[in-house]
Formats: sequence, C-alpha cells, structure tokens
Amino acid sequence: MKPVSDQDLAGLADAARAVRAHAHAPYSRFAVGAALLDERGRVHVGCNVENAALPQGLCAEAVALGALVAAGGKRVRAAVVVGDGTQALTPCGGCRQKLREFAADDAPVWSADAQGWRARHTLGELLPASFGPGHWKP
Ligand code: THU
Repeated sequence: MKPVSDQDLAGLADAARAVRAHAHAPYSRFAVGAALLDERGRVHVGCNVENAALPQGLCAEAVALGALVAAGGKRVRAAVVVGDGTQALTPCGGCRQKLREFAADDAPVWSADAQGWRARHTLGELLPASFGPGHWKP
C-alpha cells in the first residue's frame, strides 16, 4: 500500500476537525471527528451521532467507515481522530475492531485535537493479536 504522506495527514486532520463541528453530542458534550484515507487517496469523514436512547449512539469512526464503504472504498490506509481531553483520543475498542476489517496492522491511527497532533499508533498496537477477515478463511 502506498505510504501516507505528510500532505495526506494534513488533509485528514483538516477534514476531521471540520466534521467534528457537526457532531451531535448533546449528552456527553464530547464532540469527535474522524477522517479516513482510502486506497484511492480519497478522504471520508464522520462525527459522533448520539441518541436519547444512549446505546444507539454512533462513534465518529463508525460513521466515517460507513461513508467510506458507501462511496465504494475498500481499504483504510490511515485514520485521524480529533477530540479534546486531557488524554490523546484513541478509538474505542469497538471502533478498533471495525477499523480492523478494512485496515492493516501497520495502518497509522493518529490522535489530534484542535491545536495539533497528540499521538500516533498503528492499528496493530491498538488491537494486538486481533480477529480479522483472515480468520474466516480455511
Ligand atoms: N466517541 C467517538 O466518537 N469516538 C471514539 O473513539 C471515542 C468516543 C464518542 C462516543 C460518544 O458520543 C462520545 O464520544 C463520548 O463517549
């Protein structure tokens, strides 16, 4: 897979910050934006969409993955997640597994806030020894 350039990353961060402004987070007041780079260099975005029935809420990463798949994307080359807080925002466990469906272990997952980068992990670091599509093959 093509390496992710600094320009790609800057574009992902801008896109994640912009979509974060649309977060529907009246319950947690914790707005999140996510941007994913696909195998064709396209950027797909999502924000969290909470619900009065709390477990029905969607994470920003899940919404961005839905956008990628709906646009015909097949792979996630890189992800950027943007949110505030004292700790760098990394994807929740469920979203790590959702990303695993479309991303390799070495795919970078960047954490950022409104000011700049906070952390960089690979998906494999966030979800080691994971269960993935390969497990379904004989
Ligand atoms: N949230 C995300 O959208 N992504 C994450 O990686 C962590 C958490 C959302 C879910 C919920 O709307 C709010 O942040 C607080 O948990």
